[in-house]
Amino acid sequence: MEPVNLSEFEDAARAKLAREAYDYYAGGANDEVTLRRNREAYGEIALHYPVLRDVSSRDASTTVLGEKISFPVMVAPTAFHRMACAEGERAAARAAGRAGTIMVVSTLSTTTIEDIGEVATGPLWFQLYVYKDRGATTDLIRRAEAAGCRALVLTVDAQVWGRREADVRNNFKLPDGLTVANLAEHAKEMFPGGIPGSGLAAYVAQMLDPALSWRDLAWLRQQTKLPILLKGIVRADDAKLAVEHGADGIIVSNHGGRQLDTAPATIEVLPRVAEAIAGKIPVLVDGGVRRGTDVIKALARGAQAALIGRPILWGLAADGENGAFRVLELLKAEFDLAMALCGARTVGEIDRRLVVV
Ligand code: GLV
Repeated sequence: MEPVNLSEFEDAARAKLAREAYDYYAGGANDEVTLRRNREAYGEIALHYPVLRDVSSRDASTTVLGEKISFPVMVAPTAFHRMACAEGERAAARAAGRAGTIMVVSTLSTTTIEDIGEVATGPLWFQLYVYKDRGATTDLIRRAEAAGCRALVLTVDAQVWGRREADVRNNFKLPDGLTVANLAEHAKEMFPGGIPGSGLAAYVAQMLDPALSWRDLAWLRQQTKLPILLKGIVRADDAKLAVEHGADGIIVSNHGGRQLDTAPATIEVLPRVAEAIAGKIPVLVDGGVRRGTDVIKALARGAQAALIGRPILWGLAADGENGAFRVLELLKAEFDLAMALCGARTVGEIDRRLVVV
């Protein structure tokens, strides 16, 4: 049966995926308090809708960093799409392009950035992890630029890896035949496997730079002319530091509840963070967005757009490119309906009054 919402896409994906893959995608850190809280917090926010506005014609499109997208939802970076379907990241990129939105490609993709760039029909951004080997990092940046990526998204909440206990239990490693494709030439023993615990956690401990700090933003700025967004901010003071250090945007994110457990839900902290940014740079948000009404709440609380991660993986697992496309179209239709019921004809008409009595 065709899923009628994003959560039914997860059911369809779970039925098809290998246990280790489903657990890796679905899991959060430790007790998964933050993972759950990201969702629950949306349910606790009421929408105070105005009535009797002519909503017969509506426009859900918006612009993020100069890029027009068909509705305020983008594809968040997630790792290892080829565990979900054979075409992996290529399928996700085509789906995002068909849906008229931006895809943020993960450093940890199972397809090279060049191969994704070749088939993408919409804008790509590149999510960056900073490796201890700065040469490998700058090489990645060069390749992302050459592949046509239009922004860099620096993940700032994952210098060390959260403990995802399902992955520990499963001794998670990439299935045979898949690699961290972008980094394949930089290390042979990149993703060990055959060791107890999460192979990915071992990889991160070996490869990523735990010393990354605000000072490195100046270094990063020198490496590229692309806009740089910081992903993983949940505090107002960090938001201000991001502006001071020249970031071009931020993503309010707790890494889908996969890093520090008991971190706050992103929709809860969004208003404080957006207030600190005071319109100077775009604020985006991810974590727990599953409904059109969630997107309305994200915008009403100060985000320019929201990103979805896991639902794209569920779409890919359920039905490849078409599944990921249907996930985006379903959310777009929900968002359009929610706009109408909230009396909003344009994204600009979604304001704080919807969430503040
Ligand atoms: C990758 O970024 C992950 O959270 O597993």
